Amino acid sequence: MEASLQGKVAVVTGGAKGIGAAVVRRLSNDGAQVIVADIDEKSGTELAGASARVSFVRCDVSDEKQILAVLDKVDSRFGRLDILVNDAAWQLNKPLLETTTEEFEQVMRINVTGSFIFLRESAKRMIAKGIPGAIVNFASTFAVVGSPGYLAYHASKGAIASMTRAAAIALQPHGIRVNAVAPGTVDTPGLHDGARDTGDERRGLESFLALQPLKRFGQPEEIANVVRFLVDEQASFVHGAVVMADGGYTIV
Ligand SMILES: NC(=O)c1ccc[n+]([C@@H]2O[C@H](COP(=O)([O-])OP(=O)(O)OC[C@H]3O[C@@H](n4cnc5c(N)ncnc54)[C@H](O)[C@@H]3O)[C@@H](O)[C@H]2O)c1
Repeated sequence: MEASLQGKVAVVTGGAKGIGAAVVRRLSNDGAQVIVADIDEKSGTELAGASARVSFVRCDVSDEKQILAVLDKVDSRFGRLDILVNDAAWQLNKPLLETTTEEFEQVMRINVTGSFIFLRESAKRMIAKGIPGAIVNFASTFAVVGSPGYLAYHASKGAIASMTRAAAIALQPHGIRVNAVAPGTVDTPGLHDGARDTGDERRGLESFLALQPLKRFGQPEEIANVVRFLVDEQASFVHGAVVMADGGYTIV
């Protein structure tokens, strides 16, 4: 049984929609104050409107100044930060030969650099207050397998898995645990965007489904369950792990 998150403060990037929104609901239902940092104002505001424990701050994670502004706001409003969930990402579905340098750099900027800056700045604030925080990054099965599309996205998620291990070692002396979850194919707006990038959303989704050992997509809540465990004291011996939550996608 997980402990209550009452009194804890969490930031969830990309928390306005999809898996991030399921994480926001799960952490706030379990007692945490959750700050959603996302570019989608409409979805973020709606989510915040549904719970007194959820607030929304517009933040583009590719902009360092906006990241610092979010964390300053969290500090002035709540005076502490216990949990960071780095969920925001651009899931660009493009093969190697069609990916421009600008697209590659932007995917890396959002997915990797954004997570890095949030991680570094959150850790600094946790250390300054002596808080034994928990940080969860979002990798993907695409960190460990290849596919015909998603070239830049594959590169970014491999970087996240590697950064998670290095950050876990760096922050271990401060009692801060760093882990990653690696979702398989989960039914979210991002999945539908990826299917649309193939030129035919319905056929794209069918081709993704054909690869699923469980013959279904994952649900955002199934990934939120893993995040919830990773930020809990029950996971006290889980450190630097990249936890696959993929319905067996990477074992067949
Ligand atoms: N859905 C899947 O099948 C799947 C599989 C493996 C990994 N993942 C990972 O899980 C995480 C969530 O995926 P999802 O499918 O729920 O995504 P999604 O695309 O449905 O939602 C992503 C959220 O991130 C926000 N976002 C995008 N760019 C941003 C930016 N620059 N700054 C701030 N916010 C930004 C979006 O507005 C959105 O709310 C991502 O890291 C993704 O790579 C998803």
